[in-house]
Amino acid sequence: MDGNGRWARERGWIRLKGHEQGSLAVERVANACMDAGVEYLTLYAFSTENWKRPAHEVAGLMLLLERFLSEKVAMMNENGVRLATIGRTHDLPRPARKRLERAIAETSHNTRLILTLALNYGGREEIVDAVRSIAAEVRVGSIEPEAIEAATISSHLYTRGLPDPDLLIRTSGEMRISNFLLWQLSYTEIHVTRKLWPDFGPEDLHAALADYASRERRFGEARENPAPTIIPS
Ligand code: IPE
Ligand code: MG
Repeated sequence: MDGNGRWARERGWIRLKGHEQGSLAVERVANACMDAGVEYLTLYAFSTENWKRPAHEVAGLMLLLERFLSEKVAMMNENGVRLATIGRTHDLPRPARKRLERAIAETSHNTRLILTLALNYGGREEIVDAVRSIAAEVRVGSIEPEAIEAATISSHLYTRGLPDPDLLIRTSGEMRISNFLLWQLSYTEIHVTRKLWPDFGPEDLHAALADYASRERRFGEARENPAPTIIPS
């Protein structure tokens, strides 16, 4: 969800205004996803690096998260949205953590859309946490080092139970992954749009889905060449 700060700057407003507007885009995009039949939506809301921002911006983002959670649980239940999180959420400020736990519990029966918020999330940190937990299992002898496979790592990531993403949408024109889902994005199609997140709407989602539909996903395999109609002499 990139571009909130630029969206605000273009208007001569403080960055928090952009984050506020960006939080409104979440409901809009979640609804458009459900209309399009998307079953999993994962939003990169706060990275492990975002703590380096000025304290008032971090505090503002945490308050926005709390507000979003307290205001949207009813809407999520009406629409069948189940909330989930990935990241080191135990290190979030207590009020945000408590609200999160409540929203997750109150929406746990929903199945139409799994809305996962990446909070205090970093892809490298996620892999570090997975390696630590696998190492602990090796130490107590419940897993042999030779038995560790790609699936073992997948099942120790925060995303266990979620499919790897089919499509990554990057807003605000940046051409980088920025420590997001490093392991899970191996074969994900990437769509970059110059739209800033607060301006991202259903038409942009449809454009991204159409772009995705035009891709040929080979997963490393070769594509069958069409049979030649003229045999070269
Ligand atoms: C939102 O956009 C990302 C969050 C941390 C919520 P930015 O705040 O990174 O916006 P830009 O990059 O300054 O435009
Ligand atoms: Mg940014």
